[in-house]
Amino acid sequence: MKLTPLLLSLGLFASSVSAISKISRGGRYLYTDDGTRFYIKGVAYQEQGVVNTDPNAPFSEPSTFFDPLAASDACARDLPFLQQLGVNTIRVYSVNSSLNHDDCMNALSNAGIYTIIDLSLPLNGSIDRSAPAWTTNLLDLYINTIDTFAKYDNVLAYNVGNEVVTSANETATLPFIKAAARDVKAYLRSKNLNILVGYAAIDADRSWLDPLANYLSCDSDEESLDIFGLNNYEWCGDDNFASAYTDIMGHFAGYNIPAYFSEFGCITSPPRLWTEVQALLSTQMSPVWSGGIAFSYFPAESDQGQFGMVTVDGNTVTTSDDFTQLAAQYGNATGPNTPSQSDASSTQFPACPQQNSTFFASITLPPTPNDTACDCVVNSLSCQFTPQTDNTSIIVGTLIDTACGLLGQNGGNCNDISGSGSSGTYGRMAFCDPGSKLSFVMTQFYEATNRNSASCDFAGNATVNSNAPSSVDAENSAVSACLANTAATFTPTTPSTSGGSSGGGSSGGGSSSTGTSESNGALNQAAFLVHLKGGVLGTGLLLTIMVATGFWTLA
Ligand SMILES: *[C@@H]1O[C@H](CO)[C@@H](O)[C@H](O)[C@H]1NC(C)=O
Ligand SMILES: *[C@@H]1O[C@H](CO)[C@@H](O)[C@H](O)[C@H]1NC(C)=O
Ligand SMILES: *[C@@H]1O[C@H](CO)[C@@H](O)[C@H](O)[C@H]1NC(C)=O
Ligand SMILES: *[C@@H]1O[C@H](CO)[C@@H](O)[C@H](O)[C@H]1NC(C)=O
Ligand SMILES: *[C@@H]1O[C@H](CO)[C@@H](O)[C@H](O)[C@H]1NC(C)=O
Ligand SMILES: *[C@@H]1O[C@H](CO)[C@@H](O)[C@H](O)[C@H]1NC(C)=O
Ligand SMILES: *[C@@H]1O[C@H](CO)[C@@H](O)[C@H](O)[C@H]1NC(C)=O
Ligand SMILES: *[C@@H]1O[C@H](CO)[C@@H](O)[C@H](O)[C@H]1NC(C)=O
Repeated sequence: MKLTPLLLSLGLFASSVSAISKISRGGRYLYTDDGTRFYIKGVAYQEQGVVNTDPNAPFSEPSTFFDPLAASDACARDLPFLQQLGVNTIRVYSVNSSLNHDDCMNALSNAGIYTIIDLSLPLNGSIDRSAPAWTTNLLDLYINTIDTFAKYDNVLAYNVGNEVVTSANETATLPFIKAAARDVKAYLRSKNLNILVGYAAIDADRSWLDPLANYLSCDSDEESLDIFGLNNYEWCGDDNFASAYTDIMGHFAGYNIPAYFSEFGCITSPPRLWTEVQALLSTQMSPVWSGGIAFSYFPAESDQGQFGMVTVDGNTVTTSDDFTQLAAQYGNATGPNTPSQSDASSTQFPACPQQNSTFFASITLPPTPNDTACDCVVNSLSCQFTPQTDNTSIIVGTLIDTACGLLGQNGGNCNDISGSGSSGTYGRMAFCDPGSKLSFVMTQFYEATNRNSASCDFAGNATVNSNAPSSVDAENSAVSACLANTAATFTPTTPSTSGGSSGGGSSGGGSSSTGTSESNGALNQAAFLVHLKGGVLGTGLLLTIMVATGFWTLA
């Protein structure tokens, strides 16, 4: 009996001395607490969601996800295989903050395995490259996830996006991505969480990949990533450093923050030999790269074929040659322990890249989204979005298109809810969630038609708010007051759990719909495009949880 407390405290002591080390940024490298250089030897660990096949979309992006860190039994089943692979990190692309992650996270931690967690979710849980915005609903989603994982000691990094930018003309999305990094970083620091903030980029034409990487780590620590991920599939089969990696080494030679391959593992010459592991952890590449994430533990189907290394049938895991060979390569690979932490010195943040014909990102970032301000506006509006479905993300984009079109025909515009990452101008409501934006535009239209009750209907999606100020002037003043005192940047706080404003304000989903209604939305909006600037128009490509189709080869 009396032994129990002693044993307990011994147990605690034992686990505290063997606790997984914190990983910190030193200059452009990563270090453990004892000053050893840290290299990511990782594997992507998430079952593939439902991928909508869209012939017009170059990248297949899933519309659903299954949180692998909440699946205790599957984690316990897979942990021995992860240990056999010799990984020290897994990358997970989406998690659900309302689930319990204790079993998996603790088991991984005890096994010395870190997690890199992407904060975005499929569909409306990501920055939408076709209508980019950094909004209250996304910030709240990201913070809820951070709060859920705050108690674990083995979160290495949070990614604020994965392959959001897929072409030069989408580089105007970057100010929104950088604002997300800025706000997530401020939040983590306010909670004393020493976790790196990252982004995972598609490998691409150097004329915009170079400035993209530099943009996300320029100017100041406060606004920059801590770690840059590149999804790189340039080494195929039994390739060699000179042919696969000389070019990318050259382009990142002077890079200022830690960088790693957030995905690697070309499948064009199966089975995979994974000989790139030796190159990646060699003295040739260690001056820039801190390891990488092999893609993928679970099967993941793409246009190029199958990326998995195991198949799972209930409790049975069957490994492939890919698995065996990766285990062999990871088994004896240790990156050089240089430079020392003291020689790595502090991270430098150079000037940001200039805009040009292949790079459009403005250095003026959008403001930190302010929930209170958006809720305040919605409460003052005379016409509110009152969806008759929980599935608001399916309809909100279409309704914004419709409302902006009607407003345009009545002499108004949607500039207040729009933003442009190329000109660096952001409407005063641009940081609000899509539902609040919709209420705002519905009200503008309602006012433009002299509060004609037929104008606040939208086929049953809108309701007149009898609590709004009675005159239009008073209403406009109330809205302006809500938006007048919100600082451009501030440290965000934990969102209230109440669900925010009435009128669908914070339940509003992203300005996106499903793959099938997407093309309809695009047709609907075409007629109104001329009236609007800034590309806020709703529907379009859904974002952006990965799946490794970011395949780029040297011509
Ligand atoms: C998270 O899990 C809860 C409980 O199972 C579920 O109701 C909710 O829809 C999930 N959220 C997401 C974004 O998948
Ligand atoms: C961006 O580039 C793609 C492919 O080059 C093109 O299809 C698309 O229309 C462009 N989008 C814009 C907004 O220019
Ligand atoms: C734009 O600038 C980047 C460097 O920031 C450069 O790599 C790229 O080649 C430039 N594009 C053109 C068309 O000159
Ligand atoms: C590591 O193991 C792999 C696979 O067995 C082998 O090809 C490679 O030569 C080994 N490298 C070293 C440095 O021992
Ligand atoms: C929401 O929409 C999706 C896609 O159209 C559909 O599969 C799902 O059943 C809907 N859910 C509800 C609660 O209406
Ligand atoms: C996405 O839309 C659903 C409703 O369709 C909503 O419950 C959820 O909060 C939205 N997520 C975000 C991050 O806006
Ligand atoms: C709301 O708007 C959507 C999208 O335009 C439409 O399909 C639906 O019929 C409208 N009415 C209701 C009650 O949902
Ligand atoms: C957010 O907006 C509210 C409402 O206007 C304002 O009172 C508050 O000061 C703003 N918060 C910050 C940090 O700017």
